[in-house]
Amino acid sequence: MRSDLQTTIANWRPDSDGDVGQQIDALLEQLLAAGLLRASACAVLLGEQYHLGGVEDTRRMAELVGVNGADRVVDLACYIGGPARHLAREYGCQVVGVDIFEDCIAIAEKLTELCGLTDRVRFICATADAVPEPDGSFTVAWSQGSFPSDLSWLTEMHRLLVPGGRIAFTGVIRRSESSDPSHCSLHEVQRRVTEAGFRVISAEDISDWELEHGWLPIRRKLEENEAHYRNLLGDEWVKKVYQSIDEDVAAWREGRLGSGRVVAVKE
Ligand SMILES: C[S@@+](CC[C@H](N)C(=O)[O-])C[C@H]1O[C@@H](n2cnc3c(N)ncnc32)[C@H](O)[C@@H]1O
Repeated sequence: MRSDLQTTIANWRPDSDGDVGQQIDALLEQLLAAGLLRASACAVLLGEQYHLGGVEDTRRMAELVGVNGADRVVDLACYIGGPARHLAREYGCQVVGVDIFEDCIAIAEKLTELCGLTDRVRFICATADAVPEPDGSFTVAWSQGSFPSDLSWLTEMHRLLVPGGRIAFTGVIRRSESSDPSHCSLHEVQRRVTEAGFRVISAEDISDWELEHGWLPIRRKLEENEAHYRNLLGDEWVKKVYQSIDEDVAAWREGRLGSGRVVAVKE
């Protein structure tokens, strides 16, 4: 990890009287603005839950998969651990977050320590298709907003789960003839999940929900705080993010891009 990032996060302390979530968002803004954390331009608007729909999406998926205090969850592509901490805090489960980017893991570990969750949440820096944990280590394999279009992580999820273990993931799907052909349709995703040794419990097209609960709220957040972001990240950044959100909103509305959410059980 770079020493400038190390120093910034080592010295960071949330004020326990204030809203810790808001303070984490402010820390992330500072890291992203200083170029100490690499992420998409929209990352600053998403905070520690770096996927469309934020904590609401995490809650919905946790309810669908029935996360509970007996679960051992592996979160593939965990970023800085926002969803991992949420699952441990709300449901009392154990969570291992896995991310390929060591700076994300360093921040995840620091935030988890400051939130007092190190007894339930730990992190591993590794690629999601080769997690250095034994077969059958987990009861739930989880991933939000990062699943590769070739669905190759299904094999590793299957290996990591106990028999009867559950998977829950969201990812980009092909919704129409004009969609990027490298993505699978929701129907194809279900077929591939079944072929990988799982019984599908639910498979939903969540594109419209993501538009309402993801793209439109983050655009509003940008509009309402535009002066703050201009000051923090500059006019060019603001212009680029409006452009990028508007392109995605159009693609979502026209059915060129969208997302699916799948929950399944290992047979
Ligand atoms: C959009 S973020 C997802 C964030 C997280 N799932 C969440 O919902 O907050 C994408 C993350 O995937 C990670 N990533 C990309 N490729 C990966 C891989 N092959 N294995 C593990 N992590 C990966 C990136 O480092 C980044 O943190």
